Amino acid sequence: MIYLDNAASTWPKPPRVATAVAEAISEYGANPGRGTHRLAQRAAAAVADTRRQLATLLRVSNPDDIVFTHNATEGLNLAILGVLMPGDHAVTTTFEHNSVRRPLEALRRAGVIDLTYVAGDERNGVDPDDIRRVLRPNTKLIAVTHASNVLGTLLDIGGIAKVAKECGVLLLVDAAQTIGAMPVDPGTWQADMVAFPGHKGLYGPQGTGGLYLRPGLDVRPLHYGGTGGYSDRIDQPPVRPYRYESGTLNTPGIAGLGEGVKFVLEMGVDQIQKHNQALIDRLYDGLSDIPGIRITGPPRGTPRADLISFSVEGVDAAEMAVLLNDHYDIAVRAGLHCAPLAHEVAGTLETGLIRVSVGWFNTVDDIDACVGAVGELAAALRL
Ligand SMILES: Cc1ncc(COP(=O)(O)O)c(C=O)c1O
Repeated sequence: MIYLDNAASTWPKPPRVATAVAEAISEYGANPGRGTHRLAQRAAAAVADTRRQLATLLRVSNPDDIVFTHNATEGLNLAILGVLMPGDHAVTTTFEHNSVRRPLEALRRAGVIDLTYVAGDERNGVDPDDIRRVLRPNTKLIAVTHASNVLGTLLDIGGIAKVAKECGVLLLVDAAQTIGAMPVDPGTWQADMVAFPGHKGLYGPQGTGGLYLRPGLDVRPLHYGGTGGYSDRIDQPPVRPYRYESGTLNTPGIAGLGEGVKFVLEMGVDQIQKHNQALIDRLYDGLSDIPGIRITGPPRGTPRADLISFSVEGVDAAEMAVLLNDHYDIAVRAGLHCAPLAHEVAGTLETGLIRVSVGWFNTVDDIDACVGAVGELAAALRL
């Protein structure tokens, strides 16, 4: 199968990821941080090693400022539910995934917070000054995605962070579509929190992810429970990362994630970015030649996330995706991609879009096969 659904989860993974998962299960399946014996220590060392790799990638000086979660969604929930209090106001954008929108909307609908959406356009994302204009004295949080998972549009995180700092508002960045594929740098951005998945651009297993928390920022935990240490305390320990990592960790997944991050570090984010962007440019050119096609998001040559979503006039997006799977063995994704507001930006809420997303293991041949198949199907279906 030609796999072009890397924005959902990258696949395949570097073989060392599966090796590390298997080793964690078959060689040292003990509980990390829950014992002093050799196997528990080995499990704890694997977890600590992955945290260090992530700190290197994110250029974070203290690895304990990164806490493990099960995916990006859990990190986003921890951040949003952990800082917002009754009477607060939050600001977000029309590019957000439901993983940002739904926790915010749940708080709004329960009468806990007020919420404002700032709109933007497919090419430029959101203007930081438009965010500045909607801030209120009680605005506590700006929650924004680094890149739209539907349109590929990149948001100006540096500019938004500047507004947040000047106005004393916390900034949460959803790096789900960019981590590992382009620089994600909480320090340079001065972001307070950055949530990320382990199973996309970091090439780790599903069931992994994390949240970076700025030093000194107190966030209420999402889960309460056993943390291995500090067992004499009734309260959740104040110490990171334990405060946020109750219950037994996903050691095999985290060990696999560590190898995924090492792979990204060894390849270099720059090289991965160049490879993926070259494929995206080729895809853009190939699709552009197909009659009736509409490509969404930034124009060719403009930086974007490693995906292109498109529609073909008169062709149902879901049908196209099914036919690509059934007749060409090509995996893409059709529909709303959990981000209906981004479809409002593009005017594609009713029709949905077909999303093609690339990763390090895709080749020029994959792109050419996809363009060829889309062209054939478009010609046949538009008749
Ligand atoms: C922009 C964005 N945010 C959040 C998520 C949720 O990620 P996860 O599935 O790791 O929870 C995704 C997943 O597709 C995404 O694209």
